[in-house]
Amino acid sequence: MQVTRELFNDVMVPNYAPSAVIPVKGEGSRVWDQNGKEFIDFAGGIAVNCLGHCHPALVNALKEQGEKIWHLSNVMTNEPALRLAKKLVDATFAEKVYFANSGAEANEAALKLARRVALDNHGAEKSQIIAFNKAFHGRTFFTVTVGGQAAYSDGFGPKPGDIDHVDYNDLAAFEALISDKTCAVMIEPLQGEGGIISPTNEFMQGVRDLCTKHNAVLIFDEVQTGVGRTGDLYAYQGLNVTPDILTTAKALGGGFPIAAMLTSTEIAKHLKIGTHGSTYGGNALACAVAEAAFDTVNTDEVLAGVTEREQMFREGFDAINAKYNVFSEVRGKGLLLGAVLNKDYEGRAKDFLVASAEHGLMSLVAGVNVIRFTPSLVIPLEDVKEGLARFEKAVAQIVNA
Ligand SMILES: Cc1ncc(COP(=O)(O)O)c(C=O)c1O
Repeated sequence: MQVTRELFNDVMVPNYAPSAVIPVKGEGSRVWDQNGKEFIDFAGGIAVNCLGHCHPALVNALKEQGEKIWHLSNVMTNEPALRLAKKLVDATFAEKVYFANSGAEANEAALKLARRVALDNHGAEKSQIIAFNKAFHGRTFFTVTVGGQAAYSDGFGPKPGDIDHVDYNDLAAFEALISDKTCAVMIEPLQGEGGIISPTNEFMQGVRDLCTKHNAVLIFDEVQTGVGRTGDLYAYQGLNVTPDILTTAKALGGGFPIAAMLTSTEIAKHLKIGTHGSTYGGNALACAVAEAAFDTVNTDEVLAGVTEREQMFREGFDAINAKYNVFSEVRGKGLLLGAVLNKDYEGRAKDFLVASAEHGLMSLVAGVNVIRFTPSLVIPLEDVKEGLARFEKAVAQIVNA
């Protein structure tokens, strides 16, 4: 069968508009399309491919587990799931793990759990969920409503209730909103989709303190920031603020769908038998691949390498900006970076993405003003250099047009 981009329009639901290119092979941070054109991958499947494409450790884990056992459902547990859970517990604040398949599902579990904790401990009155403008937490109806862009949750009928939003980094507004009726606060420790926005230390510490004061469960959505992305295994570890629940997905499986919700024993006990679940959650094949990804990323060498690469990217962007004057700033942490377009190029992030692709570079956007980069955490340094050179050509093309 001839597979073309046109086939997408014929057979797929029209909720996406993928690029004209259909990649067919990936190795490390290089990708080739159907016509053999080569790309350097600064997108990483939206912060998923933390070890690039077809990393040998992940391929081996997939093959090995693929010949043992794939799926059992939660009627029975399995060895890879328990090994991975133990490693997550050992490496974080958490004592208990719940496995899911996507970031949205892990967040859905976190929100439902928080509501249960409040109901069991304090009663039905304590149901308010506070989240932040521009936040992104997934596309289930609960998580998209908790997300901070109403446009994404409008038009689907009555929304889940008692959810309020304030501006990120506005501690005074947050303090004015939180009360003893607040059940949970959901926050990204660095807003990704919202435009690569870091929290201030005072804000994060203030949010933590106010959650503690009002007995509200603090949920860190580390779906995008987790598994080494910011240079720490989890971003909370670099902020010195510990959440009550943490969700992780994307990079957790290095490209294989898996997610997890991490929490304490005290909180976890409220998800009693039968209160929540998922057929695929803890799938043996997914957990085996995730275990290999986790073992590979959670080393001093890889985590230090993230910071080293961040430096290279920042120097590269600075050099490009010195020549072409297109960015007002470069923000983010580790390998979750955003080049913010200045006034002259406002609203044109997508144009830079398209021009980059023409020059053989895969990139992302975060809103209309930010070009986002989330490459492999182990991207070879020569690929960073070559990718930046291609990006410079794309920038030059736009500036000189
Ligand atoms: C912070 C954050 N939370 C949740 C999600 C949703 O994850 P998924 O698409 O796997 O459901 C995303 C996806 O971009 C995200 O960036």
